[in-house]
Amino acid sequence: MKIKTTRLTALLLCLVMLMSVPFTAYAAGNEVSRVAVTINGDSANARGISWYTDEECDSVVQIAKAGEDLENGKLVKGDGYKAMKKYVHKVTVTDLEPATRYAYRVGDGSVWSEIGYFTTSNPDSDKAEFIVISDVQASNEENFQKAAAVMKQAVETMPEHEFVVNLGDFVNDCTNEEWDSFFRNFAFSNMNTTMIPVAGNHEGNLQWNKFNNIFNVGAAKGSMTTTGCYYSFDWGDAHFAVLNSNDMYPMSQQQLNWLKNDMRASDAQWKIILMHRAVYSAGKNINKPDTIIMREVLLPIIDDLGIDVVFAGHDHMYFRTKQVKGDEVQLCESVTEVYDGEETTFMLNPAGTVHILPSTTGTKRYSVNESAIPPILQCGDVVRDTKAGGCFATVSMDNEHFVYKAYIVDDETGEKELIDSYAIKKTVKDEQKDYLKLPTDPILTLPGNIINFAVQLIKMIFTYLFELLPAVV
Ligand SMILES: [Fe+2]
Repeated sequence: MKIKTTRLTALLLCLVMLMSVPFTAYAAGNEVSRVAVTINGDSANARGISWYTDEECDSVVQIAKAGEDLENGKLVKGDGYKAMKKYVHKVTVTDLEPATRYAYRVGDGSVWSEIGYFTTSNPDSDKAEFIVISDVQASNEENFQKAAAVMKQAVETMPEHEFVVNLGDFVNDCTNEEWDSFFRNFAFSNMNTTMIPVAGNHEGNLQWNKFNNIFNVGAAKGSMTTTGCYYSFDWGDAHFAVLNSNDMYPMSQQQLNWLKNDMRASDAQWKIILMHRAVYSAGKNINKPDTIIMREVLLPIIDDLGIDVVFAGHDHMYFRTKQVKGDEVQLCESVTEVYDGEETTFMLNPAGTVHILPSTTGTKRYSVNESAIPPILQCGDVVRDTKAGGCFATVSMDNEHFVYKAYIVDDETGEKELIDSYAIKKTVKDEQKDYLKLPTDPILTLPGNIINFAVQLIKMIFTYLFELLPAVV
């Protein structure tokens, strides 16, 4: 009798194991990876959430206010499609409450990710606090781990940050392995904040549609997303435009017109551009045709729109300009006062723009290019290589103050060092003028594209013949 019972138990166990095989395989294929929460519309009440699975399945986000019962939270369904030999899922959650911390998880409705968190912005507050990183661009697990260690220092430095700006080149060759490694190592940040991703050339240019297949950012209406996305958002009393510097050379008339319309429509105190290719930098890339053409086209627009700050990446060294306008340094007064408990010197209502290249968070680092196209080096305030470690920056701002700090984390010691700080105080508001809305559709902007391309091509040839070549020879 005892033998019979043992055999029966073994048989039942085998049956259970056999029955569980297909379920396990299904669940494993639906395991969630690459979770990102990004801006998609109004920062106070919407987010774009994206993730990957190996197998096709439903796209569901479950969301509740932090501290409430997430297992009975609201279910929001989205869309999935095949990308990079896997399945990308995109869900846009709307109708969120402002200034609220949310808990969420993503999955197919039965297999769920770990729980993540993000906080919506407060439209009644003029404050914004955020971290800026750039150019992780690793191609192996070890270098992603090193960059993630720098990111951990960033989070420790500003634990109260509301979002993270990533200035692009997340990966090197845009392979599935690299994206998996990036998201695996940066999950502690990506899952627990709002990310502002910027398209770099390593996930744009020849990596068509990869950026748009990874993130759910809500690209500008009618824009092409083949080489990346451009979009904008408000936080505090600042308006941010995220550009796609892979979008044609010079940048497409469609995107330039969108930028003008977008910035002119905003009455925010601060106007900030986030982009990958830099118009002021002194690394190995600054004298290349794509950058020369882009800065020719973009600098007059930045001046005309009264942009306060431009953050950019791409050149893997540290560069911060003085206040510049028309490629010339602007003289300005300063005032010293206590801000957030620290005595801080502010540029007072300065003219022009400060351009900031906070260097790479990763391990690929460039020397200072002493032959950078004039007058870039003369416009620099802090110009240096960051070969000793990975970098990050923090920004704390309200309607009158912009306080920026840049750090390096030493490779050997893991110690953090402040390498630059810069602050602006703005007590006057730029006058918002009436403007004519420019066309942003592909047909009406086609002549602009053709003219820009021809003009900038000729200008670039002249620049090489009469400025760069004599300097090298
Ligand atoms: Fe780049």
